[in-house]
Amino acid sequence: MFDTVNRDNTNAVKWERFRKQNLLPMWVADMDLASPPAIVDALSERVKHPLFGYTHPWPSLNQAVVDWCQRRYQWSIDPAWVVWMPGVVPSFNLAIDLFGKGGKVIVQSPNYPPMLQAAERNGCTTVTIGLEWLEERWQLNWQALETAMVQDDCHLFVLCNPMNPHGATLTKQDLTRLADLCKQHNVLLCSDEIHCDLILDGSQHVPAGSIADLTENSVTLMAASKTFNVAGLGCSFAIIPNADMRRQWSKRMEDRIPYPNFLGMIAAETAFTACDEWHRQLIIHLKQNQDFLSTKINQLNGVRYRAQPATFLAWVESTQPEFRLDQHVIASGIMPSEGKYFGDEQHVRLNFGTGFDLVERAVELLESYWRQNNL
Ligand SMILES: Cc1ncc(COP(=O)(O)O)c(C=O)c1O
Repeated sequence: MFDTVNRDNTNAVKWERFRKQNLLPMWVADMDLASPPAIVDALSERVKHPLFGYTHPWPSLNQAVVDWCQRRYQWSIDPAWVVWMPGVVPSFNLAIDLFGKGGKVIVQSPNYPPMLQAAERNGCTTVTIGLEWLEERWQLNWQALETAMVQDDCHLFVLCNPMNPHGATLTKQDLTRLADLCKQHNVLLCSDEIHCDLILDGSQHVPAGSIADLTENSVTLMAASKTFNVAGLGCSFAIIPNADMRRQWSKRMEDRIPYPNFLGMIAAETAFTACDEWHRQLIIHLKQNQDFLSTKINQLNGVRYRAQPATFLAWVESTQPEFRLDQHVIASGIMPSEGKYFGDEQHVRLNFGTGFDLVERAVELLESYWRQNNL
């Protein structure tokens, strides 16, 4: 079920961008695995109808999100809180445009590059807070966070949870602590949770908006796109419990943000209603890939990968200051996401969301390069 799909002749960004260099693509967060058959069937059924005009979200679509949130995260939401969007990146940009008020916007670093850039793109100033490796997991630097929040012109924290690139997650206690800080300093939270259905270690994802003290002052961003391999269908959703914030959001969307792709909405409804078993198997597959990659990578000299609970992304670290891991990985024949774009050039990010054969191939390339170069 989870073999690598040959993506030739599909204009797949992941495979085309570095095709000439003949590098094995392990960069962009896009999996090489077929979408669940139920999604393929639902889309095929719809395209039999020959008209693809503007399409509103429909009640069973919102209900699918409501039921998913209840079933997966024990979060009871109202269908009216769900606002459909054409993507998560436009969503956190809209959040900054709307709620950043031209002031300081907090983001973690290292982080997904569009999130690092979003504040400046919307007339605000980025304040980065670091992450700390504490108690065997990546944690927000709480001291830095509070220092940032205290500033008068800081109105918004754009959080990435699960974290890209680390794959770390915030616990319920973390989110409760964050809720207290947000309340105390009057800071809104926009939480990008696009990777929340990719928890590999059996732990439970906690949506920001499900924390009582965050419900009324947060926007939670989710999508079926990463988990169910439908990222090209341009569709995500924001959960905005606060009616006034939702009104402002919808108003700001007018004439700026296009309708989400209705095929993406069909895919999302199907993902949340008919793909539980596929999803269960996917997690097992990704965990196997992660375990294998982690074992092998940690045998390479000068390299460390501390496997984290979430995502199909491995944040791999060079343990020697002068060692350019990105250059070595590329020289070995693999295209990683280079850490410098995430705010840390000592790392690379490797995407293991593919068939096991390609993860094995990547390991072979790395091992043989390390051997040949006496690293
Ligand atoms: C944290 C995070 N947010 C957003 C996105 C992209 O979202 P979208 O394609 O819905 O705009 C990605 C893609 O890698 C991501 O990792």
